[in-house]
This record gives sequence, structure tokens and C-alpha cells, in this order.
Amino acid sequence: MTTVVLQDSDATRRAGAVLAGLVAGGDAIALVGDLGAGKTTLVAGLVEAIGGGAASSPTFSLVNEYPGGRLVVWHVDLYRLEREAELVELGLDEVIGDRRGICVVEWADKFSVLPPDHLRLDLAHDGSTRTLVATGTGPRGQALASLLAAELLGSAS
Ligand SMILES: Nc1ncnc2c1ncn2[C@@H]1O[C@H](COP(=O)(O)OP(=O)(O)O)[C@@H](O)[C@H]1O
Ligand SMILES: [Mg+2]
Repeated sequence: MTTVVLQDSDATRRAGAVLAGLVAGGDAIALVGDLGAGKTTLVAGLVEAIGGGAASSPTFSLVNEYPGGRLVVWHVDLYRLEREAELVELGLDEVIGDRRGICVVEWADKFSVLPPDHLRLDLAHDGSTRTLVATGTGPRGQALASLLAAELLGSAS
């Protein structure tokens, strides 16, 4: 397990952009970390690099869909979700695993919504910077985690 230091918000966006080059349709990504840890910033970098345009926080709509790029990005934020039953209303089941795109879920540790095999990104405050740890919860997630860590560490210097 490797910890990547993200020096500023551009570095967080770039991490998302690197991830954009690695993902394939049907992939699922859990973003875990406190408020302000950089989750939405990373998604914005990912969506832009995939060709989906400018992403914003889905805190109010809960699911944002960015259909314009190489893959559709479904960006979900569970921060405001109070009951697991509301997940059905979100229509998350319909997009998870859909090979036309990828699902990226902020506060994914709140409810168990992702398939067993996914990429998990833990973001944390570290003074004024942030840290990123990528892990996989199955073979596909682990492959993505090692590719991402290798690319981020390779481009850090
Ligand atoms: N690596 C970083 N270093 C310093 N500030 C960052 C970094 N990454 C993101 N930020 C800033 O942190 C703030 C919160 O980011 P945001 O992505 O909204 O967090 P979250 O979605 O986890 O609540 C934003 O102002 C963003 O620009
Ligand atoms: Mg956010």
C-alpha cells in the first residue's frame, strides 16, 4: 500500500485525470475521506480528462451524470443520504456495472453500494496538503490501484 502526497488542488485534479486514462466501462470507484479531503476535486479532474466537461458537487442532486466523454461518468455523493432505502430512489442499481460508464461514489463507506470488486481511494488531510491511498477490494480494483499508484509516483518527481 502506497501513500501518494497531493501537494495542492491541481495535484488532486491530476490524480483524477490519470485515473481517467486507466478506467474501463463497468468500473466502480469508492472515494473515502472527510469533508474537504479532495474527493470532488479528484472527480472533477477525472470527468474533465474523460471528456465529460466540468463537474460539480452532487451534494444536492446526489447523482450527476456526465455523458459527454469516452465513458459516461456517474458521480454519486452519499453525504446527505440518511437511509439505505433511499438508494433505490437514486437509481444507483441501474448504473452500477453499466459498461457504458463508470461509477464514482463519494462517502462510499456510508452504505454498501458498490460491487465487491472496486477501487477504493482514501483521501486525507495532511496539514495543508492531502494524501491519497489506493487499494483494491478484488482483482480489478487491485489492478487499478497499482497502476494508479505507479503512475502517480512516477510523475511526482
Ligand atoms: N491536494 C490538495 N491540497 C490542498 N487543497 C486541496 C487539495 N485537493 C483539494 N483541495 C482543496 O480542498 C477543498 C475541498 O475539496 P473537495 O474536493 O470539495 O473535498 P471533498 O469533496 O472531499 O469534500 C477545495 O477547496 C479544494 O480545492
Ligand atoms: Mg465532495
